[in-house]
Amino acid sequence: METLIAPKHIAIMMDGNGRWGEQRGLTRSQGHYAGSVAMENIIKDSLDLGIEALTLYAFSSENWSRPKEEVNYLMDLPTIFLKEKLPEFMKNNIKVCISGDIQGLPQHTRKAVEEAVQKTKDNNKLIVNFALNYGGRKELLFAVKSLIKDVKNTSVEMEEISNELIENYLYTTGLPDPEIIIRTGGEKRISNFLLWQSSKSHLWFTDTYFPDFNKQLLIQAITEVNEREQTITSH
Ligand code: FPP
Repeated sequence: METLIAPKHIAIMMDGNGRWGEQRGLTRSQGHYAGSVAMENIIKDSLDLGIEALTLYAFSSENWSRPKEEVNYLMDLPTIFLKEKLPEFMKNNIKVCISGDIQGLPQHTRKAVEEAVQKTKDNNKLIVNFALNYGGRKELLFAVKSLIKDVKNTSVEMEEISNELIENYLYTTGLPDPEIIIRTGGEKRISNFLLWQSSKSHLWFTDTYFPDFNKQLLIQAITEVNEREQTITSH
């Protein structure tokens, strides 16, 4: 077996939770709960595989239009999950980051994520970056507005604006771009996810619903991307 070259950063669009639940006669929210269990396993697997950063698309800025009950549950999940898993994150040296508009989250969700970010800020084995209330265009809009503000107040000169400088204005500042973006659940599109950061990412799709996504599929994605990279470099 060839050795696996672990990417520094993998991003996952955790799609198919709702359908997973419906297929089993359960609620969509029960599907999301099953997704959170799969997510916990993937975090552990990422540690084992030596991945340095994992971005997980947990709630998009478009998800607010879902039924109220489902939205409420998706806002409760991070609160429950982070409270419960924080001791383990500390033990495993995991740093929690958030990408998204946290001002727009309900108070309890915001408090839970801010506390997790604060408590884990000095950890350095694996970054788990939750994309919460995240939209790629919204991120770019926010970056453009902040940058213009800094040009106007003269803390930035027009001539200084570069790719690197723009990255300082994104939610993901400090994170390397993801080498791989995985989307579960069968759809093959980017859906407003990491629009700037995905410029060179390999896209990897599977029909598997996220609650059934596991280490074997994660390794398959990495192996296939390793092979793609070898083909590119051998040309
Ligand atoms: C998309 O599937 C998934 C989501 C909108 C939520 C993903 C969230 C989790 C896996 C858990 C998050 C937990 C924490 C702690 C951040 P979908 O609902 O669109 O499924 P469908 O495509 O079948 O409708």
